[in-house]
Amino acid sequence: MDRIRIRGGKPLSGNIPISGAKNAVLALMPAALLAAGPLRLTNVPNLADVATMTALLRHLGMEVAHDTAARAVTIAGPATVHEAPYDIVRKMRASVLVLGPLVARHGIARVSLPGGCAIGTRPVDLHLKGLEAMGATITVEAGYIEARAPTGGLQGARIIFPVTSVGATENLLLAATLANGETELVNAAREPEIEDLVLCLMRMGARIEGIGTDRLRIQGATSLAAASHPVVMDRIEAGTYACAAAITGGEVLLEGARLEHLGAVARVLREAGVGVNEEPAGLRVTRMNGLHGVDVVTEPFPGFATDMQAQFMALMCVAQGASMVTETIFENRFMHVPELTRMGARINVHGASAIVRGVLRLSGAPVMATDLRASVSLVLAGLAAQGETVVNRVYHLDRGYERLEEKLAAVGADIERLA
Ligand code: UD1
Repeated sequence: MDRIRIRGGKPLSGNIPISGAKNAVLALMPAALLAAGPLRLTNVPNLADVATMTALLRHLGMEVAHDTAARAVTIAGPATVHEAPYDIVRKMRASVLVLGPLVARHGIARVSLPGGCAIGTRPVDLHLKGLEAMGATITVEAGYIEARAPTGGLQGARIIFPVTSVGATENLLLAATLANGETELVNAAREPEIEDLVLCLMRMGARIEGIGTDRLRIQGATSLAAASHPVVMDRIEAGTYACAAAITGGEVLLEGARLEHLGAVARVLREAGVGVNEEPAGLRVTRMNGLHGVDVVTEPFPGFATDMQAQFMALMCVAQGASMVTETIFENRFMHVPELTRMGARINVHGASAIVRGVLRLSGAPVMATDLRASVSLVLAGLAAQGETVVNRVYHLDRGYERLEEKLAAVGADIERLA
């Protein structure tokens, strides 16, 4: 199994191209299930999760053609199978995003119930309640969710989310584009990836108001059409490399990254003593002087992203003073803490908060993690640590970071993949 070896202590310097967003493309690909013609996506990152979504759509009978050189994928239907099997869903929770489109277009969908995952129990009750509000009959049996639309198709509805959910907003948004009448999503998530999905659906002919807000109004259509859409840049990848520059004391230009997409992450980095400046080509990130401890609380966008929590904690491990990191989105998202501690970090966890007391230096160690963002936080710690760090279970990184070691090596990191 592949591992990544890092010899720490090299400040990063140069340009890092930011790829298309994993979390955007995983919601955009299922949108093809709704269209009468092909959906072409460009700026598609080459990631294991994209391969998994490709396998799922092919299983459903869709034609999925990747043009690697053009970084594009073209997806054409219609689906001939309406079941997402356990073997694919267990690999990737985002598979549940085929549920809304399948039931909206074909009147029936069977999707394996995603189980718990390393970062928490992660239910899908809001996805199912929303579909029920649109008239679907939902049964859960033998580990599968079965959703059936009423005769005549899904009905528009007013759906108020009790908690903000990215996935539920996406699933119901997708379903609402082909429902009868108007659907209103209240307290909808407003992550840039959702804005990107709205833009793509509008290109396909959907009528949606409220883009970028927490209230989306969708007028259902009888069909959506072929379209082409560029995937938005990955703000979490950008935030991760911003932390890499900061933790090594370097300066990088994150090509294509946009300040408005970083939300609170940019503000918090600045408070910690990191320069984050927008330029025409992207975001320039510079470590000014020393790093300071800053408290953060994870929240839905535009708050501080839970997907940046582990990386920011790695940064705080070498900051001056203390920092309190509070996780409010997922209940078990501190698995990086014991591994960072093995590298010399001083962290105490109390419930949903971790107190990080900065140390002068981390030391390299063999480490492993059980999820994507935790793994990359160990890479960041390794870049700053004295000596050699070997990160095991690299397949987590391959789910969400395209050519991670190449991008970091190109800006001066001493990092390589070991087969
Ligand atoms: C998405 C992102 C993930 C990110 C997360 C939060 C993708 C593919 N993944 O995950 O990287 O960390 O948003 O920004 O885009 N919840 C319920 N019931 C539901 C659905 C969610 O209680 O039916 C809860 C969850 O347990 C969690 C919170 O709502 O506590 C937010 O989860 P959600 O926004 O749905 O996360 P995902 O869409 O799974």
